[in-house]
Amino acid sequence: MDEHALDCVRKAGSIAGEARELGINLVVPGKTLASLANEVEAYIMEKGAKPAFPVNISINEVAAHFSPNNDDKTVFEPGDVVKVDVGAHVDGYIGDTAATVEVGSRNWQGLIEASHRALMMAVEMIGDGTPVRAIGGTVKRSILESGYRPVSNLHGHEMKRYNLHAGLSIPNIDDDTLAWIRNDMVIAVEPFATNGNGVVNNGKPGNIYRVIRDRPIKDEKAAKMLEDIRQYFGTLPFCERWCDAFSNEAAHHLKLLLRHGAISSYSILKERNGAVVSQAEHTLLVRNGKCEITTRKM
Ligand code: CO
Repeated sequence: MDEHALDCVRKAGSIAGEARELGINLVVPGKTLASLANEVEAYIMEKGAKPAFPVNISINEVAAHFSPNNDDKTVFEPGDVVKVDVGAHVDGYIGDTAATVEVGSRNWQGLIEASHRALMMAVEMIGDGTPVRAIGGTVKRSILESGYRPVSNLHGHEMKRYNLHAGLSIPNIDDDTLAWIRNDMVIAVEPFATNGNGVVNNGKPGNIYRVIRDRPIKDEKAAKMLEDIRQYFGTLPFCERWCDAFSNEAAHHLKLLLRHGAISSYSILKERNGAVVSQAEHTLLVRNGKCEITTRKM
């Protein structure tokens, strides 16, 4: 990895870490999810990075892949268990990080601590040559010891330039992956813990999307929006909220682009039995045999 790439990975990581902390501090009763997302993304841009994906705000049994629309009036309610998952990139080099917080109650501190502890146990063991399945084994064991279950069908991921999910998956259980962590890898490790069975299902399609292929679009306005999307977000995930800047009919155009197969949407992921889920995530840079957390806040 050259100096430029290293600088960018570290800068993106530290900005993502600060943005995560800002987001967590904004989770207060009565605040809208949309205002939190917009403020966190604005912060990332003020600091000289760009959002690598829309801020994911996932509450209670929702594990991931929800980002509010601008007209969403949903507010945080006392007792909510809120995951804030934030990504920033600098010249395509990504920092991805998440934390969980409870709104004005202390009913789920053990669950929140379980995913965080598993993350830190994983960080301890990761270096050049670490078997990927052993990371999953450690995450699972740690969460079970805390009295919860890992979500077995969610996993972390390797990241490459402008590619959020590249190469390796990092499991939260000991699966039979035959792969090893290597120097110069950038990986996101993200344990999810639950008081349920530990399986998430694809819920309804959410409002986070990505471009999947070039398709001729006859509708001129929708075609123009697809061009804007490609130019501004490239291959990275984006959301309806961001498309409002391109068109006052963004929702309508997105439906058309989906129907034509130009973009796909991420399904909202929910715990199968409606159990509560917590998440903790850091981006790790493997260097000189060891790992460095890039998304620890400065
Ligand atoms: Co991630």
